[in-house]
Amino acid sequence: MGDVIRVRAPGRVNLIGDHTDYTGGLVLPMTIDRWTVVEGEPSDGAIELTSESEDQPLILDLPVLDAAAVEPPWGRFVAGVAAEIGADVRPIRGRVTTSIPIGAGLSSSAALEVAAAIALGFEGTPTALAELCRRAEHRASGVPCGIMDQLCIAAGVAGHALLIDCATLTIDPVRVPDEVAVVVQFVEHRQLDGSEYATRVAECAAAEEIIGPLRMATPDLVDKLEDPVLRRRARHVITENQRVRDFAAALRSGAYVTAGHLMLRSHASLRDDFATSTPTMDAAVAAMAAIPGVLGARMTGGGFGGCVVGLMELGTQTPGWQVRAVDGARITRS
Ligand code: GLA
Repeated sequence: MGDVIRVRAPGRVNLIGDHTDYTGGLVLPMTIDRWTVVEGEPSDGAIELTSESEDQPLILDLPVLDAAAVEPPWGRFVAGVAAEIGADVRPIRGRVTTSIPIGAGLSSSAALEVAAAIALGFEGTPTALAELCRRAEHRASGVPCGIMDQLCIAAGVAGHALLIDCATLTIDPVRVPDEVAVVVQFVEHRQLDGSEYATRVAECAAAEEIIGPLRMATPDLVDKLEDPVLRRRARHVITENQRVRDFAAALRSGAYVTAGHLMLRSHASLRDDFATSTPTMDAAVAAMAAIPGVLGARMTGGGFGGCVVGLMELGTQTPGWQVRAVDGARITRS
Protein backbone atom coordinates (compact mmCIF):
# COMPACT_ATOMS: atom_id res chain seq x y z
CA MET A 1 0.00 0.00 0.00
CA GLY A 2 3.05 2.28 0.05
CA ASP A 3 2.09 3.78 -3.28
CA VAL A 4 -1.37 4.89 -2.22
CA ILE A 5 -1.87 8.63 -2.11
CA ARG A 6 -4.62 10.19 -0.04
CA VAL A 7 -5.40 13.92 -0.19
CA ARG A 8 -8.05 15.81 1.68
CA ALA A 9 -9.33 19.28 0.86
CA PRO A 10 -11.85 21.21 2.98
CA GLY A 11 -14.90 23.16 1.87
CA ARG A 12 -15.14 26.86 2.59
CA VAL A 13 -17.62 29.41 3.79
CA ASN A 14 -17.19 33.09 3.01
CA LEU A 15 -17.70 35.32 6.07
CA ILE A 16 -17.89 38.50 3.98
CA GLY A 17 -16.73 39.80 0.59
CA ASP A 18 -18.84 38.19 -2.12
CA HIS A 19 -18.69 39.00 -5.82
CA THR A 20 -15.51 40.98 -5.32
CA ASP A 21 -12.82 38.42 -6.18
CA TYR A 22 -13.11 38.59 -9.97
CA THR A 23 -12.53 42.35 -9.88
CA GLY A 24 -9.40 41.97 -7.76
CA GLY A 25 -11.24 42.94 -4.58
CA LEU A 26 -11.15 41.72 -0.98
CA VAL A 27 -12.66 38.54 0.47
CA LEU A 28 -12.68 36.87 3.90
CA PRO A 29 -13.46 33.16 3.57
CA MET A 30 -12.55 30.35 5.96
CA THR A 31 -12.08 26.65 5.40
CA ILE A 32 -14.61 24.46 7.21
CA ASP A 33 -14.42 21.08 8.90
CA ARG A 34 -15.97 19.17 6.01
CA TRP A 35 -13.69 17.55 3.46
CA THR A 36 -13.41 15.92 0.07
CA VAL A 37 -10.91 13.07 -0.04
CA VAL A 38 -9.28 11.76 -3.22
CA GLU A 39 -7.28 8.58 -2.77
CA GLY A 40 -5.86 5.95 -5.04
CA GLU A 41 -2.90 4.01 -6.31
CA PRO A 42 -0.89 4.76 -9.44
CA SER A 43 -2.50 3.58 -12.66
CA ASP A 44 -0.77 2.97 -15.97
CA GLY A 45 -3.19 4.57 -18.32
CA ALA A 46 -6.49 6.18 -17.49
CA ILE A 47 -7.61 8.02 -14.36
CA GLU A 48 -10.23 5.76 -12.77
CA LEU A 49 -12.26 7.09 -9.85
CA THR A 50 -15.48 6.11 -8.17
CA SER A 51 -17.43 8.60 -6.11
CA GLU A 52 -19.37 7.65 -3.02
CA SER A 53 -22.00 10.29 -3.78
CA GLU A 54 -22.41 9.52 -7.50
CA ASP A 55 -23.69 6.48 -9.39
CA GLN A 56 -21.34 6.61 -12.35
CA PRO A 57 -17.57 6.11 -12.05
CA LEU A 58 -15.11 8.24 -13.99
CA ILE A 59 -12.84 6.55 -16.51
CA LEU A 60 -10.76 9.27 -18.04
CA ASP A 61 -8.39 8.61 -20.89
CA LEU A 62 -5.40 10.91 -21.19
CA PRO A 63 -4.69 13.38 -22.55
CA VAL A 64 -7.97 15.21 -21.87
CA LEU A 65 -9.16 17.00 -24.99
CA ASP A 66 -12.41 18.59 -23.83
CA ALA A 67 -13.03 18.56 -20.07
CA ALA A 68 -16.52 20.09 -20.43
CA ALA A 69 -17.68 17.11 -22.52
CA VAL A 70 -16.59 14.41 -20.06
CA GLU A 71 -19.18 12.03 -18.62
CA PRO A 72 -20.32 11.67 -15.91
CA PRO A 73 -20.51 15.43 -15.20
CA TRP A 74 -18.83 15.25 -11.77
CA GLY A 75 -15.72 13.96 -13.54
CA ARG A 76 -15.36 17.21 -15.48
CA PHE A 77 -13.67 18.87 -12.51
CA VAL A 78 -11.08 16.09 -12.37
CA ALA A 79 -10.75 16.26 -16.15
CA GLY A 80 -10.19 20.04 -16.01
CA VAL A 81 -7.43 19.51 -13.48
CA ALA A 82 -5.80 16.73 -15.53
CA ALA A 83 -5.92 18.93 -18.63
CA GLU A 84 -4.27 21.78 -16.73
CA ILE A 85 -1.51 19.58 -15.29
CA GLY A 86 -0.90 18.26 -18.80
CA ALA A 87 1.96 15.86 -19.52
CA ASP A 88 3.09 15.73 -15.87
CA VAL A 89 -0.18 14.20 -14.65
CA ARG A 90 0.25 11.03 -12.59
CA PRO A 91 -2.93 8.97 -13.14
CA ILE A 92 -4.48 7.09 -10.22
CA ARG A 93 -7.12 4.43 -9.71
CA GLY A 94 -9.16 5.04 -6.58
CA ARG A 95 -12.10 6.87 -5.10
CA VAL A 96 -13.58 10.17 -4.03
CA THR A 97 -15.51 10.64 -0.80
CA THR A 98 -16.91 13.85 0.61
CA SER A 99 -18.68 15.30 3.61
CA ILE A 100 -19.20 18.68 1.88
CA PRO A 101 -22.82 19.16 0.80
CA ILE A 102 -22.88 19.35 -3.01
CA GLY A 103 -24.54 22.32 -4.74
CA ALA A 104 -24.80 24.19 -1.45
CA GLY A 105 -22.36 27.02 -2.11
CA LEU A 106 -19.66 25.53 0.13
CA SER A 107 -17.21 24.96 -2.75
CA SER A 108 -17.50 21.21 -3.14
CA SER A 109 -16.25 21.53 -6.73
CA ALA A 110 -13.21 23.61 -5.75
CA ALA A 111 -12.39 21.08 -3.00
CA LEU A 112 -12.56 18.27 -5.55
CA GLU A 113 -10.30 20.20 -7.93
CA VAL A 114 -7.70 20.99 -5.28
CA ALA A 115 -7.66 17.44 -3.86
CA ALA A 116 -7.50 15.94 -7.35
CA ALA A 117 -4.68 18.25 -8.45
CA ILE A 118 -2.47 17.17 -5.55
CA ALA A 119 -3.43 13.50 -5.94
CA LEU A 120 -2.63 13.67 -9.67
CA GLY A 121 0.86 14.95 -9.00
CA PHE A 122 0.70 18.75 -8.99
CA GLU A 123 3.54 20.21 -6.94
CA GLY A 124 3.77 23.92 -6.33
CA THR A 125 2.79 26.75 -4.04
CA PRO A 126 -0.77 27.08 -2.73
CA THR A 127 -1.19 30.09 -5.01
CA ALA A 128 -0.06 28.18 -8.10
CA LEU A 129 -2.32 25.30 -7.07
CA ALA A 130 -5.28 27.67 -6.72
CA GLU A 131 -4.62 29.31 -10.07
CA LEU A 132 -4.42 25.93 -11.80
CA CYS A 133 -7.67 24.81 -10.17
CA ARG A 134 -9.43 28.04 -11.08
CA ARG A 135 -8.50 27.45 -14.73
CA ALA A 136 -9.70 23.85 -14.34
CA GLU A 137 -13.07 25.11 -13.08
CA HIS A 138 -13.36 27.42 -16.11
CA ARG A 139 -12.62 24.47 -18.41
CA ALA A 140 -14.95 22.08 -16.61
CA SER A 141 -18.04 24.19 -15.99
CA GLY A 142 -17.56 27.31 -18.06
CA VAL A 143 -18.29 29.39 -14.94
CA PRO A 144 -15.89 32.37 -15.00
CA CYS A 145 -15.25 32.17 -11.25
CA GLY A 146 -12.71 34.18 -9.31
CA ILE A 147 -9.85 32.77 -7.22
CA MET A 148 -11.42 32.90 -3.75
CA ASP A 149 -12.62 29.32 -3.34
CA GLN A 150 -9.57 27.55 -4.70
CA LEU A 151 -7.12 29.82 -2.86
CA CYS A 152 -8.92 29.53 0.45
CA ILE A 153 -9.01 25.74 0.16
CA ALA A 154 -5.34 25.55 -0.88
CA ALA A 155 -4.06 27.95 1.76
CA GLY A 156 -6.45 27.58 4.73
CA VAL A 157 -5.08 28.16 8.24
CA ALA A 158 -6.71 26.38 11.20
CA GLY A 159 -8.57 28.78 13.48
CA HIS A 160 -8.44 31.62 10.96
CA ALA A 161 -10.35 33.22 8.14
CA LEU A 162 -8.20 34.48 5.26
CA LEU A 163 -8.24 38.12 4.27
CA ILE A 164 -7.29 37.78 0.61
CA ASP A 165 -6.48 40.63 -1.72
CA CYS A 166 -7.51 39.10 -5.02
CA ALA A 167 -5.42 41.59 -7.03
CA THR A 168 -2.09 40.69 -5.40
CA LEU A 169 -3.13 37.28 -4.01
CA THR A 170 -1.66 38.24 -0.63
CA ILE A 171 -3.19 36.38 2.30
CA ASP A 172 -3.54 37.81 5.78
CA PRO A 173 -4.98 35.27 8.27
CA VAL A 174 -7.51 36.75 10.70
CA ARG A 175 -8.17 34.71 13.84
CA VAL A 176 -11.76 33.60 14.30
CA PRO A 177 -12.18 34.42 17.99
CA ASP A 178 -13.23 31.71 20.44
CA GLU A 179 -15.90 34.01 21.89
CA VAL A 180 -18.11 33.77 18.80
CA ALA A 181 -19.50 30.91 16.70
CA VAL A 182 -19.81 30.69 12.93
CA VAL A 183 -22.92 28.77 11.85
CA VAL A 184 -23.79 27.61 8.35
CA GLN A 185 -27.38 26.85 7.38
CA PHE A 186 -28.21 25.17 4.11
CA VAL A 187 -31.21 26.90 2.52
CA GLU A 188 -31.69 25.81 -1.09
CA HIS A 189 -29.80 24.11 -3.91
CA ARG A 190 -28.04 26.20 -6.48
CA GLN A 191 -25.92 25.81 -9.53
CA LEU A 192 -23.74 28.58 -10.87
CA ASP A 193 -23.66 27.37 -14.45
CA GLY A 194 -26.84 28.55 -16.06
CA SER A 195 -27.26 31.18 -13.31
CA GLU A 196 -26.63 34.88 -13.71
CA TYR A 197 -23.13 34.53 -12.22
CA ALA A 198 -21.51 35.04 -15.63
CA THR A 199 -23.80 38.02 -16.26
CA ARG A 200 -22.57 39.64 -13.04
CA VAL A 201 -18.96 39.09 -14.05
CA ALA A 202 -19.72 40.71 -17.43
CA GLU A 203 -21.54 43.64 -15.79
CA CYS A 204 -18.55 44.34 -13.56
CA ALA A 205 -16.24 44.18 -16.58
CA ALA A 206 -18.53 46.61 -18.42
CA ALA A 207 -18.42 49.04 -15.48
CA GLU A 208 -14.62 48.75 -15.41
CA GLU A 209 -14.45 49.58 -19.12
CA ILE A 210 -15.99 52.93 -18.25
CA ILE A 211 -14.50 53.87 -14.87
CA GLY A 212 -11.41 51.65 -14.57
CA PRO A 213 -10.64 49.00 -11.91
CA LEU A 214 -13.43 48.77 -9.34
CA ARG A 215 -10.97 48.00 -6.59
CA MET A 216 -9.67 51.57 -6.94
CA ALA A 217 -12.98 53.29 -7.68
CA THR A 218 -14.49 55.90 -5.33
CA PRO A 219 -18.23 56.40 -4.70
CA ASP A 220 -18.08 59.62 -6.75
CA LEU A 221 -16.67 57.77 -9.72
CA VAL A 222 -19.31 55.05 -9.44
CA ASP A 223 -22.03 57.73 -9.42
CA LYS A 224 -20.80 58.80 -12.85
CA LEU A 225 -21.96 55.51 -14.38
CA GLU A 226 -25.04 56.38 -16.38
CA ASP A 227 -26.49 52.88 -16.61
CA PRO A 228 -28.38 52.32 -13.32
CA VAL A 229 -27.71 48.56 -13.37
CA LEU A 230 -23.96 48.98 -13.79
CA ARG A 231 -24.03 51.69 -11.12
CA ARG A 232 -25.67 49.33 -8.63
CA ARG A 233 -23.29 46.47 -9.43
CA ALA A 234 -20.26 48.72 -9.04
CA ARG A 235 -21.63 50.21 -5.82
CA HIS A 236 -21.94 46.72 -4.36
CA VAL A 237 -18.33 45.91 -5.19
CA ILE A 238 -16.79 49.05 -3.74
CA THR A 239 -18.92 49.05 -0.59
CA GLU A 240 -18.31 45.32 -0.09
CA ASN A 241 -14.54 45.83 -0.29
CA GLN A 242 -14.81 48.41 2.49
CA ARG A 243 -17.03 46.11 4.56
CA VAL A 244 -14.39 43.36 4.31
CA ARG A 245 -11.75 45.73 5.69
CA ASP A 246 -14.08 46.89 8.46
CA PHE A 247 -15.19 43.35 9.32
CA ALA A 248 -11.60 42.10 9.63
CA ALA A 249 -10.78 45.04 11.89
CA ALA A 250 -13.92 44.39 13.96
CA LEU A 251 -13.06 40.70 14.44
CA ARG A 252 -9.54 41.62 15.46
CA SER A 253 -10.67 44.20 18.00
CA GLY A 254 -13.52 42.13 19.46
CA ALA A 255 -16.21 44.47 18.05
CA TYR A 256 -18.55 41.58 17.28
CA VAL A 257 -21.75 43.64 17.19
CA THR A 258 -20.18 45.80 14.50
CA ALA A 259 -19.06 42.69 12.63
CA GLY A 260 -22.61 41.35 12.69
CA HIS A 261 -24.04 44.62 11.35
CA LEU A 262 -21.54 44.53 8.50
CA MET A 263 -22.76 41.04 7.55
CA LEU A 264 -26.35 42.26 7.43
CA ARG A 265 -25.33 45.22 5.28
CA SER A 266 -23.41 42.90 2.99
CA HIS A 267 -26.52 40.78 2.53
CA ALA A 268 -28.64 43.85 1.78
CA SER A 269 -26.12 44.96 -0.83
CA LEU A 270 -26.03 41.51 -2.48
CA ARG A 271 -29.84 41.50 -2.49
CA ASP A 272 -30.53 45.08 -3.62
CA ASP A 273 -27.50 46.17 -5.65
CA PHE A 274 -26.07 42.89 -6.90
CA ALA A 275 -29.29 40.85 -7.20
CA THR A 276 -27.73 37.52 -6.28
CA SER A 277 -30.02 36.58 -3.40
CA THR A 278 -33.42 34.87 -3.58
CA PRO A 279 -36.59 35.45 -1.52
CA THR A 280 -35.94 32.17 0.31
CA MET A 281 -32.39 33.25 1.18
CA ASP A 282 -33.64 36.67 2.31
CA ALA A 283 -36.19 35.02 4.58
CA ALA A 284 -33.57 32.66 6.03
CA VAL A 285 -31.21 35.57 6.77
CA ALA A 286 -34.00 37.56 8.42
CA ALA A 287 -35.08 34.55 10.50
CA MET A 288 -31.55 33.83 11.67
CA ALA A 289 -30.85 37.47 12.44
CA ALA A 290 -33.98 37.66 14.61
CA ILE A 291 -32.75 34.94 17.00
CA PRO A 292 -31.39 36.33 20.29
CA GLY A 293 -27.62 35.91 20.36
CA VAL A 294 -27.20 36.15 16.57
CA LEU A 295 -24.93 39.07 15.72
CA GLY A 296 -25.31 38.97 11.94
CA ALA A 297 -26.15 36.74 8.98
CA ARG A 298 -25.85 36.83 5.21
CA MET A 299 -25.98 34.72 2.10
CA THR A 300 -22.54 33.32 1.34
CA GLY A 301 -20.75 32.51 -1.91
CA GLY A 302 -22.05 32.88 -5.42
CA GLY A 303 -25.70 33.17 -4.39
CA PHE A 304 -28.87 32.21 -6.30
CA GLY A 305 -29.39 29.75 -3.46
CA GLY A 306 -26.93 27.91 -1.28
CA CYS A 307 -26.20 28.63 2.38
CA VAL A 308 -26.57 31.38 4.92
CA VAL A 309 -23.69 32.09 7.31
CA GLY A 310 -24.28 33.54 10.76
CA LEU A 311 -22.03 35.02 13.43
CA MET A 312 -23.31 34.48 16.95
CA GLU A 313 -22.62 34.38 20.63
CA LEU A 314 -21.53 30.97 21.89
CA GLY A 315 -24.41 28.70 22.80
CA THR A 316 -26.97 30.42 20.55
CA GLN A 317 -29.54 27.93 19.30
CA THR A 318 -30.14 28.31 15.55
CA PRO A 319 -30.78 26.02 12.60
CA GLY A 320 -27.63 24.91 10.80
CA TRP A 321 -24.32 23.67 12.12
CA GLN A 322 -21.35 25.32 13.76
CA VAL A 323 -18.19 25.24 11.64
CA ARG A 324 -14.53 25.36 12.63
CA ALA A 325 -11.72 26.78 10.49
CA VAL A 326 -9.27 24.03 9.53
CA ASP A 327 -6.01 23.78 7.62
CA GLY A 328 -6.05 23.85 3.84
CA ALA A 329 -5.66 20.88 1.50
CA ARG A 330 -2.95 18.36 2.26
CA ILE A 331 -1.65 14.88 1.62
CA THR A 332 -2.64 12.66 4.52
CA ARG A 333 -0.97 9.50 3.21
CA SER A 334 1.54 8.82 0.44
C1 GLA B 1 -18.39 31.60 -6.31
C2 GLA B 1 -17.11 31.75 -7.12
C3 GLA B 1 -16.10 32.64 -6.40
C4 GLA B 1 -16.75 33.97 -5.97
C5 GLA B 1 -18.08 33.71 -5.26
C6 GLA B 1 -18.81 34.99 -4.95
O1 GLA B 1 -18.13 30.91 -5.12
O2 GLA B 1 -16.52 30.50 -7.35
O3 GLA B 1 -14.98 32.88 -7.21
O4 GLA B 1 -16.91 34.82 -7.06
O5 GLA B 1 -18.93 32.88 -6.01
O6 GLA B 1 -18.10 35.72 -4.01
